[in-house]
This record gives sequence, C-alpha cells and structure tokens, in this order.
Amino acid sequence: MLLRSDLIAALAVTAGIGLAVQSGADAPLKATAIMPDAHLEVSFATEVMPILERYCWECHSEDSAELGLKLDTYEGVMAGSDYGTVVEAGDADASLLVDMIISGDMPDGGDPVPAEELDVIKAWITEGALNN
Ligand code: HEC
Repeated sequence: MLLRSDLIAALAVTAGIGLAVQSGADAPLKATAIMPDAHLEVSFATEVMPILERYCWECHSEDSAELGLKLDTYEGVMAGSDYGTVVEAGDADASLLVDMIISGDMPDGGDPVPAEELDVIKAWITEGALNN
C-alpha cells in the first residue's frame, strides 16, 4: 500500500505543478487583455508621455515645430491645435488624437504606434484624461 500512496502523492504533485505553471503562463496574458477595458488607472506622466515622446515629439513639441499641436506637456495635449481639441476626456472614440493613430495618418511617416500602446492612450482618455 505504500507504493500506491506514493504514486498518488506523485500524481498530486505533478498535477499541482501543472496547474501552477498553467496559471503562471495565463496570468500575464489575461492582465494585458483586460487592461484597456478594466478602467485601471493609467498614468499620463509615466505611461502616456513616453509613448508620445517616442512617436510624436519629433514634430509635436515645443522644440520641434511650427505645428500648433504640442504633445510634450499635459496642457499642450489638452489644448489641442488651432483646429480644436484632439482629446475628448472620457471618450477615446471621439478623440482626434486616437483617430489619427488608428487611421495611420499619425505619426506622419515612421513606425506606427503598436496596438498595445494605442490601448494605453485610449484607456487613459477613457479614464478621464487626467493629469496623473
Ligand atoms: C513627422 C512629423 C509628425 C509626427 C512624427 C507626428 N505628426 Fe501629427 N501632424 C504632423 C503634421 C505636419 C500635422 C498637420 C498637418 C495635417 O493636418 O496633416 C499633424 C497633425 C496632427 C493632428 C491633427 C491636429 C492638427 O494640428 O492638425 C493630430 C491629432 C496629430 N498630428 C497627432 C499626432 C500624434 C498622436 C503623433 C504621434 C503618435 C503624431 N501626430 C506624430 C506631423 C507629425
């Protein structure tokens, strides 16, 4: 009988490890998939700014341009351009800044903004476009 209980114990351990590995592998995937809709707080300063810096500041910053739209400060992002606002707090779908990235018009040349980073921007807008 010793043998059988050892076998059961071994099976239980194997199953336990299997579960642990499985949930370990699933967890990060679920976290990223849920994030844009889960209304977790996205930080403008630490999450949104680095994306704008990488893809937009070349043309939309205080240093770079004659362009009206400055994306290198919170105030600039919210002020928009001569044509109007580009971020509608709480409504990512109505925000020109999001539209321009989805349509591929922005960034004007260069690498497109990856979907995960666009999701960060959208989540930030959905959460109220806070200066956080
Ligand atoms: C290589 C230069 C360049 C880069 C990089 C760039 N833009 Fe632009 N952007 C422009 C120009 C030029 C215009 C104005 C001309 C036009 O409307 O097509 C413009 C216009 C816009 C507008 C419309 C408002 C306005 O002033 O006309 C938005 C919104 C915008 N850009 C967002 C972005 C975002 C967001 C990024 C980064 C993901 C980005 N742009 C990157 C050059 C650039």
